[in-house]
Amino acid sequence: MQRSVLVCVCAAAAVLGGARAGRHDAYSSSAVFGVQLRNTSDLELLHNLELNLDLDMWQYGMPQVRDAMVMVPPHARGKFLSALDKEGVSHYMHVENVTQALETHDEDIARWKSSRAPRLIFQDYMRYADINAEMERIAGRHPNLVTLVNAGKSFEGRDIKYLKISTTNFEDHSKPIYFMEAMIHAREWVTTPVAMYSVYRLVENRRSQDQDLLDDIDWIILPLVNPDGYETASGVRQDRPTRLLTPPASEWTAIELRRSHGVGTPTNPCAITYAGARPFSEPETGYVRDILAEHKDRVQIFMDIHSHGNYVLFAYGDGTLPPNALPIFLVGSAMGAAMDAMKLPQAGFYRVGNSATVLYSTSGSAQDYGQVAGAAMSYTLELPGYGYGFLVPPSYQDHINEETWQGIAVTARLSRQLYRDRYSAANTQR
Ligand SMILES: *[C@@H]1O[C@H](CO)[C@@H](O)[C@H](O)[C@H]1NC(C)=O
Ligand SMILES: *[C@@H]1O[C@H](CO)[C@@H](O)[C@H](O)[C@H]1NC(C)=O
Repeated sequence: MQRSVLVCVCAAAAVLGGARAGRHDAYSSSAVFGVQLRNTSDLELLHNLELNLDLDMWQYGMPQVRDAMVMVPPHARGKFLSALDKEGVSHYMHVENVTQALETHDEDIARWKSSRAPRLIFQDYMRYADINAEMERIAGRHPNLVTLVNAGKSFEGRDIKYLKISTTNFEDHSKPIYFMEAMIHAREWVTTPVAMYSVYRLVENRRSQDQDLLDDIDWIILPLVNPDGYETASGVRQDRPTRLLTPPASEWTAIELRRSHGVGTPTNPCAITYAGARPFSEPETGYVRDILAEHKDRVQIFMDIHSHGNYVLFAYGDGTLPPNALPIFLVGSAMGAAMDAMKLPQAGFYRVGNSATVLYSTSGSAQDYGQVAGAAMSYTLELPGYGYGFLVPPSYQDHINEETWQGIAVTARLSRQLYRDRYSAANTQR
């Protein structure tokens, strides 16, 4: 299937647009509504509206805890509001003019870029080439510790690279592997900096109290899974039409899972939640699959980093649980608590749980794929949005990086202990 078929002018596209006058005009009459959810019926109603009206969920709410945020185009507004009113669901205007919000975000970024220089790679929304150059530089400077791997080409021919970080060249099988990936979804700009900051804290800015994280654990860090989408989305200096490539995202595979999912995955390639033509129809997800396959027995944690909403979620998307759900939940809770300890007042507390229970049913997520593909513990991490949705001003990035690193460090240490137990059990049986 030609990917060009999948290139759609979708509402979400402009969320990532640039400062060029008129770029965000497609949104001038789109608004983001807050919806107060009373219970799971309301959640379900909203999810159905999302699918039927092809709405763009900025935040999946939680009944009694957290309002949903949903972007509604003008042609759907009437149907959307009357469906909510009919069921007595309260709603309010959160962002009246999305175009204006996008322009404000562009201005924030421009101001940020000019306010203080030079910036480190993880303090800004850097471009694909900058991120690759930084990975090359780090690998070049630390050849005994860091290996740069080129997984292969993206659909549009960009190299997809990741770093392997190890004091023992990945040869010591008594160490667990921590596999982190970011930016499957191109508009989630805060995610790649978190991955790059983790590299920084492990390699170039390692603190003595974190030496164990390097000595005891092997790391695989893939900071930009979807460079095509990201370059399109962040192409503020390019004269590109507003568009959104189908994220090579959520297409991990009903087939591999041998599960009869199919809940909530539209077949319309222009739908925001479209899952791809078939499992692994995009090369990008295939590389992640290959990394998981290569290190099948050693990946203790697979952390798929997204934005936004303050969630630590785990498998499966249909609400069933893996056999080790309890330790997965405990490690996820420790992560949430570590991040909450640093949270800004305007952020929600992290919510931890099974993704279908906490949010809604999904199929074919990376989290589910990671869990069945051999990672002992597979998570979806949704970073804070601070009420800005995907348009988090870059001035928050330092805080997000540090807070998330604390969570990552906690999960890494717990995973080390769990892996050691698993490893020694396996080796005494022999
Ligand atoms: C949710 O609340 C509405 C309004 O009170 C009610 O009609 C509905 O039955 C509730 N659903 C559940 C599952 O409790
Ligand atoms: C939304 O904001 C933009 C940019 O500020 C403006 O040009 C446009 O007219 C606004 N749209 C509406 C419907 O007010």
